Amino acid sequence: MEEIFPGVYENKGKLYTLNIAPGSRVYGEHLLIEGGKEYRSWNPYKSKMAAAILKGLKEMPVKRNSRILYLGAANGTTVSHFSDISTEGIIYAVEISVRAMGDLFEVCRTRKNIIPILADASKPEKYAPMVNDVNFVYQDISQKDQVGIFIKNMDRFSVNKGMLMVKARSIDISMHPRKIFEKVKKEIKNEFEIKESIYLQPYSKDHMAILVER
Ligand SMILES: C[S@@+](CC[C@H](N)C(=O)[O-])C[C@H]1O[C@@H](n2cnc3c(N)ncnc32)[C@H](O)[C@@H]1O
Repeated sequence: MEEIFPGVYENKGKLYTLNIAPGSRVYGEHLLIEGGKEYRSWNPYKSKMAAAILKGLKEMPVKRNSRILYLGAANGTTVSHFSDISTEGIIYAVEISVRAMGDLFEVCRTRKNIIPILADASKPEKYAPMVNDVNFVYQDISQKDQVGIFIKNMDRFSVNKGMLMVKARSIDISMHPRKIFEKVKKEIKNEFEIKESIYLQPYSKDHMAILVER
């Protein structure tokens, strides 16, 4: 097992994080015990961050002490791996779906560094009173106005670093994804410096990860 970023491990081409809730799985992932420690496999087909890492992400923005605003937490797949990595940090996990939030609550039972928030990410003023001092925004929501929502949250919480997982098809089904990515990058460049942009194929079709800094 080789540690490729703090808290992120690779073994035989597969990614893992160290399980902070030993014995428990979140989405049926494989558990591997090595050297007396339990690792959870991190599936790039189910988590765009894992896909970005395997596709060559150079700087891992999620660190041991990260304070993360996570928009589009769903049932906690990627959130749970961030929770394994940011053991000295916190994850504010925003999700609009009541059903997904039910699953996320279960994940939070054993993972005390996740704060679940049932809210609409396009209205940060509603959850701002619950969010304290974040230094990284991660967004993975399939909404037409993905970019606007991302910028709004970066600004509202005065965050300098963020990562947007762009889903081209949600922005415009009629336009070629490459054209949409170009358009999104142009829009983002008005506000931030683009540090990295990564196509997530073959793990996630028509998706791009964009890492930005103010
Ligand atoms: C692709 S899934 C996220 C997967 C998750 N990030 C992961 O990797 O485990 C997108 C999620 O965004 C949520 N979503 C969509 N619009 C939203 C909004 N305006 N505010 C908050 N969540 C939203 C959906 O309910 C869905 O659960």
